[in-house]
Amino acid sequence: MATSISWARGSLLQAEQLIPCVSFLFTLLLFTVSTGSASPIGVPDLQQCEPAMDVSPTNQTMMLTLNCCLPIPAHKPRVFSFHKYKSKPRVRQAAHTVSDAYIAKYTRAYELMKALPDDDPRSFHTQAKIHCAFCNFAYRQAGNTSVPLQVHFSWLFLPWHRWYLYWHERILQSLLGDPTFTLVFWNWDDQRDGGNVMPAMFVPNGTALYDRNRNQNNLPPALVKLSPTTTGNDSVEIVNQNLNDMYRDVVTATTAELFMGDAYRTGTDITNSTVITAPLEGLIEGGVHNGIHYWTGDPNLTLMQDMGTFTTASRDPIFYAHHSNVDRLWDKWKYDLPGGPRADHNDSDFLDAEFYFYDEKARLVKVTVRDALDNSKLGISYPSVAADELWVNYDPPVMSNGSAVEAARAVGVATMGAAPQNGTIFLGSGRSAIVKAPSFPPSTTTKATVLVIQGLQVTRRSFVSLTAFVNLPSANALTDTSTAEYLGTFNIIPTASIKYSHLTTNVMFEISNNMQRIGITHEHEVVITMVVTGVEPVSIQGLLIENV
Ligand SMILES: *[C@@H]1O[C@H](CO)[C@@H](O)[C@H](O)[C@H]1NC(C)=O
Ligand SMILES: *[C@@H]1O[C@H](CO)[C@@H](O)[C@H](O)[C@H]1NC(C)=O
Ligand SMILES: *[C@@H]1O[C@H](CO)[C@@H](O)[C@H](O)[C@H]1NC(C)=O
Ligand SMILES: *[C@@H]1O[C@H](CO)[C@@H](O)[C@H](O)[C@H]1NC(C)=O
Ligand SMILES: *[C@@H]1O[C@H](CO)[C@@H](O)[C@H](O)[C@H]1NC(C)=O
Ligand SMILES: *[C@@H]1O[C@H](CO)[C@@H](O)[C@H](O)[C@H]1NC(C)=O
Ligand SMILES: *[C@@H]1O[C@H](CO)[C@@H](O)[C@H](O)[C@H]1NC(C)=O
Ligand SMILES: *[C@@H]1O[C@H](CO)[C@@H](O)[C@H](O)[C@H]1NC(C)=O
Ligand SMILES: *[C@@H]1O[C@H](CO)[C@@H](O)[C@H](O)[C@H]1NC(C)=O
Repeated sequence: MATSISWARGSLLQAEQLIPCVSFLFTLLLFTVSTGSASPIGVPDLQQCEPAMDVSPTNQTMMLTLNCCLPIPAHKPRVFSFHKYKSKPRVRQAAHTVSDAYIAKYTRAYELMKALPDDDPRSFHTQAKIHCAFCNFAYRQAGNTSVPLQVHFSWLFLPWHRWYLYWHERILQSLLGDPTFTLVFWNWDDQRDGGNVMPAMFVPNGTALYDRNRNQNNLPPALVKLSPTTTGNDSVEIVNQNLNDMYRDVVTATTAELFMGDAYRTGTDITNSTVITAPLEGLIEGGVHNGIHYWTGDPNLTLMQDMGTFTTASRDPIFYAHHSNVDRLWDKWKYDLPGGPRADHNDSDFLDAEFYFYDEKARLVKVTVRDALDNSKLGISYPSVAADELWVNYDPPVMSNGSAVEAARAVGVATMGAAPQNGTIFLGSGRSAIVKAPSFPPSTTTKATVLVIQGLQVTRRSFVSLTAFVNLPSANALTDTSTAEYLGTFNIIPTASIKYSHLTTNVMFEISNNMQRIGITHEHEVVITMVVTGVEPVSIQGLLIENV
C-alpha cells in the first residue's frame, strides 16, 4: 500500500489527497428553520465516484489525482440489525496497559488484514480508503447530488467513526477467528498513569502496527500535546495545558451542539457554506481530536501525512486506537460527568442518517446513526480510567484581575458585533475585540453561554489553529493555555484541493465557566482575544456571545 502522496503532471495516479474538513455553526435562525424538515443523510450511490484533481501546494504545475473509490460488492447491500450482527460483550483496554501476548495478537490481526488483496473490502488498503472516501468528497449526497458528502465537521462525526471502528474490529476478529478480540484505545488524555505518550506497541519499526510517516520528534518519551498551540517544554506546563484542553472540550462542552457538533442534513454543503448555512463542528473534533492528528503526523511531509491529514490518517494503525479513545470520551461525556447524563442530539435527521460499511464477510451493510448511540448494544465497553479525574476536576488558575475592558479600550481595542455588522475583518496573527455580553443571569432555559466566531474564512493550504481567550488582551502564540482565560483551540486541517480549499465556518466556544471563574459574569462587555498560528490568511465576519 502506498504510504506517501505522489504527484505527477496531468496523469492519473493511484495517489491520494487531503481534504480537511471543517465547518461550524449555530444560529437560532438556522435552528428554527431547519428543525422539523425531514432530510437525513442517506447512503450514496457508490457507482458515482469522483476522483479528486488537485494541484501540488508547493508546485502549481503539478497535478494530483486521488482515487478513494470503494469496491462495489456484487450482492445487494444488507441492512444492519442487532439480530443479524450479534456481538460478544468485550472491553477495549488502554494501549499502554495490554500484555505482550495481546500486542502479539494485535500485530497478527493487522498482518492478516494487510495481507489481503487491495481490492478486498476487508483489506487494510480498503479500510483506509473508507475514511478517505467520506472525508475527501468521493461521493455525492443521495438526496442532492449537487452537494458532496462529508462525515466530518458536524453531528455525523462521532457516530460515523463509532461504526467505522465497529466493522474494522469485526473484520480483525474474523481474520483471527477470535470474536473476543478488541481494539485498544490510546489514552492520550491520561496525564498521570502513562497514557500521554505514543503507545509503545505502535513504535517498533517493521511490525504491522508501525507507520514511518510520523513525527520522529514525538516518539516516546515525548509527551503528547493536545493542541498545536500548547507552549513550553516543561512537563508540568504541558500536562496542565492538556488537562485544560480536556476540561474545555469535554467537561464545559455541556450541550450536544458544543461537544458533538451540529446539524448536517441533505443539502448541507460544507465546502461552500455561508455564515448562515455552515454546519458546526464539535469541540471534541476540532479540539483535542485534531490536536492528536497534528501531533502524530510527520511535519517533514507537505501535508503532515499520515495522521496529520484526513485522507491518509487511517493508513496509520494508530488511527484506530486514537479514535477508540474519542469513542470512549463520547461515553464518558454522556454517562459519567458531574451533573448527570448528557443528551445526544435527538433530531430525526440525526437519528435517521445512514452510512455504508463492509462486514467481516466483505458484504456492504447499511447502518443508521440511531443504532450507534448505545455502545452496550454493540457489545463495546471501556474500563473506568482513574486518571480521568484529573481533567474532570481540573481547576484552571485565574490570571487576570477584574474586567480588562477599560484597559483594552484605553489602548484602542475596538468593539466588534455580530455578522454582518463589521463586514470582513482580517485577523493577521490575531487580534482583540470588545464584545457585548448577554444578559445575566441567563434564563432558566439557557443550556450554555457561548462565544460564536462567525464567518471564519481560511484557505486550507496548511495547518491553521485559532486559539481564543477571554479577558486576556495580552495573549499571543506563546501564552500558556492552562488558565481560566483560555476558551479553546479550533484546528483547521490542511488540504491540497483547489476545488474544496476555501472554507467559511462558524466556531463556538463555551464561555460562562470562564466568566464565572474570572468573576466577570455581571459585566456588560468582555474582551475576546483570538490568536492565529499558521501562515494562511484568516478573516472573520463577527463575534457574538449568546445564551443558548
Ligand atoms: C514542478 O513540477 C513540474 C512537473 O512535474 C516539474 O517539471 C518542475 O520541475 C517542478 N518545479 C519545481 C520547482 O519543483
Ligand atoms: C525502518 O526500517 C526500514 C527497513 O529496515 C528502514 O529502511 C527505515 O529507515 C527505518 N525507519 C526508521 C525511521 O528508522
Ligand atoms: C525531518 O527530517 C530530518 C531529516 O531526515 C530528520 O532528522 C528529522 O528528525 C525529521 N523531523 C521530524 C519531526 O520528523
Ligand atoms: C523548547 O524546545 C524547543 C525545541 O523543541 C526549543 O526551540 C526552545 O528553545 C525550548 N524552549 C525552552 C524555553 O527551553
Ligand atoms: C441542494 O443543496 C443546495 C445547497 O444547499 C441547494 O442550494 C439546492 O437547492 C439543493 N437542491 C435540491 C434539489 O434540493
Ligand atoms: C460555490 O457556490 C457558487 C455559487 O453559489 C458556485 O458558483 C461554486 O461553483 C460553488 N463552489 C463549489 C466548490 O461547489
Ligand atoms: C430532544 O432534545 C430536546 C433538547 O435537547 C429536549 O428538550 C426534548 O425533550 C428531546 N425530545 C425527546 C423526544 O427526547
Ligand atoms: C486586583 O485589582 C484590585 C483593584 O485594582 C487591587 O486592589 C488588587 O490588589 C488586585 N489583585 C491582584 C491579585 O493583583
Ligand atoms: C464594528 O462596528 C461597530 C458599530 O458600527 C463599530 O463601533 C466598531 O468600531 C466596528 N469594529 C471594527 C473592528 O471595525
